[in-house]
Amino acid sequence: MEKLVIEGGKPLKGEVEISGAKNSCLPIMAASLLTDEPCVIRNVPPLRDIHTMIKLLKALGIKAEWSNYTVFVEPRVKQRKYIAPYQLVKTMRASVCVLGPLLSKLHRAKVSLPGGCVIGHRPIDLHLKGLSALGGEISIEHGYVVAKAKQLKGARIYLGGPFGSSVLGTANVMMAAVLAKGKTLIENAASEPEIIDLANFLLKMGAKIKGIATHILEIEGVKELKGADYSVIPDRIEAGTYMIAGAITGGDIRLKSAQIEHLGAVIDKLQEAGVEITLQREELRVSRRGKLRPVEVTTLPYPGFPTDMQAQMMSLMTVTEGISVITEKIYPDRFMHVAELNRMGAEIMLEGASAIVKGVKKLSGAPVMASDLRASAALVLAGLVAKGKTEISRIYHLDRGYEAMEKKLAKLGARIWRVKE
Ligand code: EPU
Repeated sequence: MEKLVIEGGKPLKGEVEISGAKNSCLPIMAASLLTDEPCVIRNVPPLRDIHTMIKLLKALGIKAEWSNYTVFVEPRVKQRKYIAPYQLVKTMRASVCVLGPLLSKLHRAKVSLPGGCVIGHRPIDLHLKGLSALGGEISIEHGYVVAKAKQLKGARIYLGGPFGSSVLGTANVMMAAVLAKGKTLIENAASEPEIIDLANFLLKMGAKIKGIATHILEIEGVKELKGADYSVIPDRIEAGTYMIAGAITGGDIRLKSAQIEHLGAVIDKLQEAGVEITLQREELRVSRRGKLRPVEVTTLPYPGFPTDMQAQMMSLMTVTEGISVITEKIYPDRFMHVAELNRMGAEIMLEGASAIVKGVKKLSGAPVMASDLRASAALVLAGLVAKGKTEISRIYHLDRGYEAMEKKLAKLGARIWRVKE
């Protein structure tokens, strides 16, 4: 096992390149199951989750490989399979987004239920509700979702749950509806940039989708889809994480390839907290000279503040004088990082789905443990500003979603190393 060692206290300076969005790549790779023609997906970073999705496509009888930031997918019509096994799905929840494409293309799917998740209860009832409305016969058997349908038929589907829209639920139902007979209306559809990216990929494949970027998607089913060559958008969560790295260390960094229009809520809160953010020649410059100010943040579906930035924002709050508050409205239990940050000297109190953060003058480096992807990123950020040495174990979580984070940070001047435990 590997761990990260960080010696904190160095303001970051320089330029960092933002990779392609993991949460776009995964459903887009799943969408390639909808055609019999090859697809080329570009700007795909070499992450653990990407390799897991490649393994899953292979298990489904598809030829898939990653090379030089590009995924090549080649279906072999006679060898296609419809079972997504537990061994793969349990390592990556996003595997569930092969369900819609398998059902609409192969008319049957058997996909393992993802099981527990450290960030809280993550049901897939909305996915199943949408696929049933399209005519899928769905049952749960021995830990698997078993779905069948001779021909899916367009329907009107309201896709909201107690926490609002569902990103992968929308992806699954949209991917099923593009090959269904007739018109589908998805109401309360997610409008995250990654869903827009998936819709744009589907358009390139020949799908008919209207209302992209709104909460009502109108889909006219087509008989078949063709292959597509597509480049995914930059990762807004990786961008946001580096913005906080610049801010927390009192540094001055420039983000290459970040898409400013996807970062509105994060930029707004960071500016309120006293961080300077400007757009200079296509690059986002993030710097901080003055003191940080406390802020209140509530996570919400896009374009609200993303839950995937909640842990990282909390790290910034730990060293902000005064009281800051974060309320989690997507995953009310997504607070695994709190105890670890407190081990580094932070003063965070949980009250229901809110964290009350009393800023301290200094964090102090400590051995800590990563529990999930974004919690790991939060610990790295805390380590960058803590006094002394922080050692973060279980960093395989980080490798699921951040490309070579220690290399990118080291290039910005951080003292950070990956070592064997
Ligand atoms: N929900 C339901 N029923 C469902 C589906 C979701 O009640 O059938 C609830 C969830 O429990 C949650 C809320 O709806 O309270 C939103 O969940 P959503 O379905 O939108 O999450 P997801 O699609 O499973 C994606 C990202 C997550 C990100 C969430 C929210 C991918 C691969 N994953 O998950 O990303 O946190 O949207 O924005 O796109 C990450 O990258 O670290 C990560 C966890």
